Amino acid sequence: MQKLKVFGPKRLKGQIKISGSKNASLPILAATLLSSNKLYLNNLPKVKDIETMINLLKSLGSKIKFEKDKLLIDNSKQKKIFASYNLVKTMRAGILVLGGLLAKFGNAKVSLPGGCAIGTRPIDIHLKALSKLGVKYRISQGYVHASAPKGLVGSKIRFSKISVGATENLIIAASLAKGVTILKNCAVEPEIKDLVKFLNKTGCNLKWISKRSIKIRGVESIKDTIYSVMFDRIEAGTYLIAAAITGGNLKIKNIDPNIINTEINILKKIGAKLIVKKNEINITGNKKVKSVNIKTAPYPGFPTDLQAQMMVLLCKANKKSFIQENIFENRFMHVAELNRMGAQISIKGNKAIIDGNINFASAELMATDLRASVSLILAALTAKGKSIINRIYHLDRGYEDIEKKLKKVGAKIKRFK
Ligand code: EPZ
Repeated sequence: MQKLKVFGPKRLKGQIKISGSKNASLPILAATLLSSNKLYLNNLPKVKDIETMINLLKSLGSKIKFEKDKLLIDNSKQKKIFASYNLVKTMRAGILVLGGLLAKFGNAKVSLPGGCAIGTRPIDIHLKALSKLGVKYRISQGYVHASAPKGLVGSKIRFSKISVGATENLIIAASLAKGVTILKNCAVEPEIKDLVKFLNKTGCNLKWISKRSIKIRGVESIKDTIYSVMFDRIEAGTYLIAAAITGGNLKIKNIDPNIINTEINILKKIGAKLIVKKNEINITGNKKVKSVNIKTAPYPGFPTDLQAQMMVLLCKANKKSFIQENIFENRFMHVAELNRMGAQISIKGNKAIIDGNINFASAELMATDLRASVSLILAALTAKGKSIINRIYHLDRGYEDIEKKLKKVGAKIKRFK
């Protein structure tokens, strides 16, 4: 099992180039199932979850290979409709192939995602909405057996709760459904906008008709295209917070700052200095960190995927603050590990109350999920001495070349067995 050794304290200084978005790449990869021909994707991040999704598509019969930095997907012989447990269990986004398989074949057998460290990850909202398009399904032996014998038929659907995955699955399915589908109460994360841009580039007909409603006019098939996925806003937010925590100075490049206004405003409130340009942000951390209270919310609210990282920063604040986690039911697994480094964080329901003025002490730590693991690195960068982080496979799921990027800006970090 690989581990990370991190020496602190270290003030980060230099430039970091942000990679393509994992959470835009995954639904866009799943949506390529709508094609019966060839597509090229660019700017996919080299992270484990993308590899897993590519393997899942290959298991369904897609021919996939990298041509230099471009990914070629050839579906001319893609016929299979069975997405197995051993691929979906490690990456819940595997459920996103359900919409595409039903749209193309009217048939699918996809493993239930199963829970993970941060929650049970149910898919009831996906299934209820798909049934409005004419899908019949039953759950047995851990699989969804779904079919639409007469093909998918457009309908008016209002999601009972805002769900990123359910919105993505329905956008993909409705793109080839007969007639018009209106989806209301959609999640509107930038990654979903990127999925819609990709689908429209393949000749689909999707149009946002209000803040959280989209109108989809089904088409017969999708055209070949080449598409470059957007930047990873969570990776960008992680490194912005790293500069604020270490009191360093970073230039974060290859981003669209308009997409991360919430994070920018909060970092300014905390006291960091940010110079925002067209495709980059220059951030300087401030010795004095002002406390703020945070509530995670669907976009454009504060992202749950930055909650753990922000918690580390608030441990350095000048007084107590709280973070309320409103998206996942169990996303405080990093609290116990941070408390072992000297943090004073208590949990009341979905609220973490965070004492300020903490100086982290280095320790041996355990990563539990993707974003928790990166928060441990951030804490270790400010702790005096050597910290060890175990189970860093969580990290590799979503952060491309993290040691390389951090070393380049002065971190002393090393991977070892
Ligand atoms: C996506 O997960 C992201 N994953 C998550 O990022 C992100 O944290 C989450 O959206 C929220 O922004 C990808 O994009 C691959 P949801 P998803 O459906 O689609 C409940 C990361 O670190 N729910 O918006 O699973 C659910 O349990 C990952 O990159 C139902 O109850 O999130 C959760 O409490 C972690 N029934 C809430 O809704 C359903 O059918 C939001 O889930 C679906 C969801």
